[in-house]
Amino acid sequence: MTETESASTYPLARLREVAVTAARAANAHNTQPWDLRYRPDHIEVGWRTEYALGPSDPSHRDLRLSLGTYIETLLICAAEAGIALRFEPDHDTTAARVGRIVPDAWLEPSTRSVADVEARRVWRGSWTPEQVPRPTIDRSLETAETAGFRVAVVPTDAARPLLVRAYHWFFGDAGIAAELLAWARLSPRHPDYRRDGLNDVMLVLSKAEAAAMRMFFAPVVYRALRPLGLVRLLTVLSSSATSGDGVVMVVLGKEDDPASEVEAGRLVTRLWLDLFREGIYVHPQSHVIDCPDTVDDLTRLCGARDGERPLVFFRVGYPATDPSGRPRHPRRERTEDMPS
Ligand SMILES: Cc1cc2nc3c(=O)[nH]c(=O)nc-3n(C[C@H](O)[C@H](O)[C@H](O)COP(=O)(O)O)c2cc1C
Repeated sequence: MTETESASTYPLARLREVAVTAARAANAHNTQPWDLRYRPDHIEVGWRTEYALGPSDPSHRDLRLSLGTYIETLLICAAEAGIALRFEPDHDTTAARVGRIVPDAWLEPSTRSVADVEARRVWRGSWTPEQVPRPTIDRSLETAETAGFRVAVVPTDAARPLLVRAYHWFFGDAGIAAELLAWARLSPRHPDYRRDGLNDVMLVLSKAEAAAMRMFFAPVVYRALRPLGLVRLLTVLSSSATSGDGVVMVVLGKEDDPASEVEAGRLVTRLWLDLFREGIYVHPQSHVIDCPDTVDDLTRLCGARDGERPLVFFRVGYPATDPSGRPRHPRRERTEDMPS
């Protein structure tokens, strides 16, 4: 593409606006790891290493999934603004890059909208017994198949023992506990409460629970109480995430490469927005895949075949209390994405 062509096909100021809206994309721990590098004729998409998780995302799978959710959200928002774009994968770990967004010849119409992007949010509380309708599940399976993945649908009952074991592993790892505390924003007085991380409201914590979490996860208390049953207590306190009926969806992929994880993240956005539009909420729970003691059982439970492996695990259903009036997880303002 020449400079002249790029000037007419690459509306930079509008793209910066779209990038701000797209930051509503779901992402692990609300670290918002994406980094847009504006070039004369494309936008390089990468990540900021300071926002990549450590012990909580040992293989950086969640990082790549989160970049995928962002890319898909950006393409949806751009399409609504009348800007035709597509994503070209080009993974390079040294350059902290997953690919680039380039102008496209024509606009792919999307059934998903900016309104969907702005309304979507995670749910971590308890669930009603109401079941997700079968036709909705079938549509999710079809969406996954079109994207080259398979979704396994597992009853929560069957996944519960794995969830409980994975929570036990998660809370028992001092590095993971420290990282969770570092990204938790347990009171509005936290200096980053309106920027990023996991706030008390969306963690569905009462004031007492938020205070308990602050205390138990403090390194000195954690070290002292861990041998005395703290891990079991924290697992019990997370019971809303493991109890209830309903189903879990697991995205299974065959390719073992970073580009395929980015694509799986793009799929997660499509699935999540479509479910949300029907009033169905989603709770991803990555540790069931990361926990060495549950991943093989999960793979078997999903009926994985031909080398398939679980990439994303999320509960779907209807919240027991109405989450829509709660403040959402915030996003950082990035001056480089602001239209000048
Ligand atoms: C790849 C990925 C992994 C996630 N893993 C978890 C998880 O293990 N537990 C959890 O409670 N939320 C998980 N989430 C949800 C995020 O924490 C949530 O999207 C983020 O805090 C922003 O909040 P929002 O989705 O309401 O905007 C995950 C999201 C993504 C995209």
